[in-house]
Amino acid sequence: MSTVSKPWSYTLQLPHEAHSPRIARCTLRSILKAHQLTQVTDTAELLASELLTNAHLHSDGAYALRLRSGQPGQVRISVWDTNPEIPTAFVKEPEAPDDSAECGRGLLLVRLCADAWGAYQLGDAAFGCTGKLLWAECGSGK
Ligand SMILES: Nc1ncnc2c1ncn2[C@@H]1O[C@H](COP(=O)(O)OP(=O)(O)O)[C@@H](O)[C@H]1O
Ligand SMILES: [Mg+2]
Repeated sequence: MSTVSKPWSYTLQLPHEAHSPRIARCTLRSILKAHQLTQVTDTAELLASELLTNAHLHSDGAYALRLRSGQPGQVRISVWDTNPEIPTAFVKEPEAPDDSAECGRGLLLVRLCADAWGAYQLGDAAFGCTGKLLWAECGSGK
């Protein structure tokens, strides 16, 4: 039997409900456990949590979490939402927030903890596919 594991991918569609990020985090933990990736669970959960909370706070529709395998030991977390705007922190080097700022640190954490990250708009209203997707990877040991 081959020891090379097959590529895998899971997508969880979420309604715009306060409990959705929690359900998505629980699902993420189950998936990573099933694929023997528990060593990346803490980082993956942090990345997913920031992206999912943002999708909830900064869009007004449904959103989705996708997890997929990468190189051995790596995982890519993608969060889709209906707001087409790409956050500035994913476009250019963000400025550190004021010491007294109560928000604006989540994507800085994502940039610090992820091995790679990116974003793209999804743009065809005619096919009901609009908004954007933000992704982050972890597990390379970088
Ligand atoms: N999914 C998103 N869609 C649109 N804008 C976003 C999204 N996520 C983040 N942003 C923008 O980027 C800013 C910084 O996000 P973040 O660092 O997570 O801080 P916070 O969520 O605490 O404001 C947000 O205030 C918002 O303006
Ligand atoms: Mg945030």
